[in-house]
Amino acid sequence: MAIDVILGLQWGDEGKGKIVDYLAASYDIVARFQGGPNAGHTLKFDGQKFVLHTVPSGIFREQLTNLIGNGVVIDPITLRRELGGLKEAGVEYESRLLVAKKAHLILPTHRYLDAAKEAAKGKAKIGSTLKGIGPTYMDKTGRNGIRVGDILLDNFQERYQALKQKHLGLLKALPAIDFDLKKEEVKWFDALGSLRSLQMVDGEYFINQQLAEGKKILAEGAQGSMLDIDFGTYPFVTSSNTLTSGVCGGLGVAPKNIGEVIGITKAYCTRVGSGPFPTELFDEMGDFLRKEGMEFGATTGRPRRCGWIDLPQLKYTIMLNGVTQLVVTKIDVLNKFDEIKAATKYRYNGTESDHLPYDLCSVPVEPQYKTFAGWQHPLENAKNYNELPPNAKLYLAELENHLNVPVSMVSTGPDRKSLILKDRYNS
Ligand code: GDP
Ligand code: IMO
Ligand code: MG
Repeated sequence: MAIDVILGLQWGDEGKGKIVDYLAASYDIVARFQGGPNAGHTLKFDGQKFVLHTVPSGIFREQLTNLIGNGVVIDPITLRRELGGLKEAGVEYESRLLVAKKAHLILPTHRYLDAAKEAAKGKAKIGSTLKGIGPTYMDKTGRNGIRVGDILLDNFQERYQALKQKHLGLLKALPAIDFDLKKEEVKWFDALGSLRSLQMVDGEYFINQQLAEGKKILAEGAQGSMLDIDFGTYPFVTSSNTLTSGVCGGLGVAPKNIGEVIGITKAYCTRVGSGPFPTELFDEMGDFLRKEGMEFGATTGRPRRCGWIDLPQLKYTIMLNGVTQLVVTKIDVLNKFDEIKAATKYRYNGTESDHLPYDLCSVPVEPQYKTFAGWQHPLENAKNYNELPPNAKLYLAELENHLNVPVSMVSTGPDRKSLILKDRYNS
C-alpha cells in the first residue's frame, strides 16, 4: 500500500480540511506531516462547523486513526483547546489520536520571539500568524529544539529553562512588545497534561508498520506549495516543506511509498499575509470575491487577498509535487461573475513565459489573461459533473488542458456533501 497525499497548490486555505474529511472515510489513517497551529482547516457537516489547527482532519470519522507526525510543530495550549472542542462535540479521540515523539514543541517564548521579530521588520513583515512557527523550526534546524518525547525525560525542566533563557537573550535585541510570559508559561505547563494524555509513538515505526500491514494512509498537507520554505515566494513563506517531498521527512517514509498526489486549487486564488501575488485584484472584483468566498482567515480572521487563478503558478507547484489529480474548490464563488479570468502566462523582462522568475519579490510580472464567460447560475442542484452549467465545464476543461492533470473532484460549497466526483471517483 502507498501513502496518498493531499496538499494545497496555492498560498494555503484551498479547502484541504474539507477534502481530507470527505476522503478520510475510505482510509485507515490520516497523518499531518508539517506545519502547526498556523494551519486552520475548516470542516462542515451535519450543520456543524469545526476548525482544526493541529489535529488531522480525519478525526471525525470513527474507526480512523490520526497521527500528528514528527514534521509538525505543536503548541500544547492550542492542542488542548482543540481537544476540548472535540470532547464538547462528543468525539472520542483518545484511542485514535497519536503524536510522534519526534515532533517539536512550540514554547511560549517561540510565540514571543515571532511577535518581536515581526515588529522588528516593520513594513517588511512576513505577516506571520504569530503562532511561533518560524522560531520553533529555527530551533529545530539549529539543533536546540525540544521534542514531544522530551517531556518524559528527567531533565525536561532544565532543558526548558535553558531554551527559555536563550530566547530571553535574543529578545533583548528586539523591540519590546506586550507579552505576559508568566501567564503563558502557566497555561503551557498546564496544557502539557493534555499532550501527555495522548498516545506518544515512534511515528516512523508506526507508519511503516501500518504500511506493511496494507493499511490505507492519507497524508494531510498544511499551508500551500507557494509557502514552501524552498520553493515558495521566499522570504514570504512559512518555515516548513509543504510539498510532497515533505511527507517523507515529516512522517519517516521512503519516497517509493508515495502513491496518489491530490493537489487542491481554488477556482480563483487567495493569499493571507505579505508577499507577491501576481494575479491579485485590488478593485471591487477582489472585494466581491472576498465577500462571496467569505475569505477571512480560519486561524487569524484576517481578510484574505483575492485574485484570479494563476496557471503558471499552478504549473509550477504541480511540477514540484508530482500531482496526479486535481481538486478544484470554491467554484460556486464564481457563480455571479459574467466573466472569469485565468492568467495563462507572465510577461517579464520583455518576454512572455509560463515559468516563474527566480524571484517573484523583485521581478514584477504582468499576468496575461484569458477570459471565460461565466455561468451565472447557482450550483447546489448539480449532483454530478454533467449537471454543471456548460460554461463551468468549459472552465474546468480548460484548467485540465492547460495544466495537463485530470480534475477528479469539484467542490461546490463548504459542506462535506457539496462535492462532485468525476471519473475515477464517480460511481
Ligand atoms: P484549508 O486551510 O485548506 O483547510 O482551508 P480553510 O478552511 O482555511 O479555508 C477554506 C474555506 O472555504 C473554509 O471556510 C471552508 O468552509 C470553505 N470552503 C471549502 N470548500 C468550499 C467550496 O467549495 N465552496 C465554498 N463556498 N466554500 C468552501
Ligand atoms: P492552512 O493550512 C494560509 C502564511 C501566513 C504568512 C506566512 C508565514 O490553513 O492553509 P507562519 O505563521 O507560518 O510563520 O506565517 O504563511 N500562512 C498561511 N496562509 N493558510 C495557512 O495554513 C497558513 N499558514 C501560514 O499568513 O503569510
Ligand atoms: Mg486554512
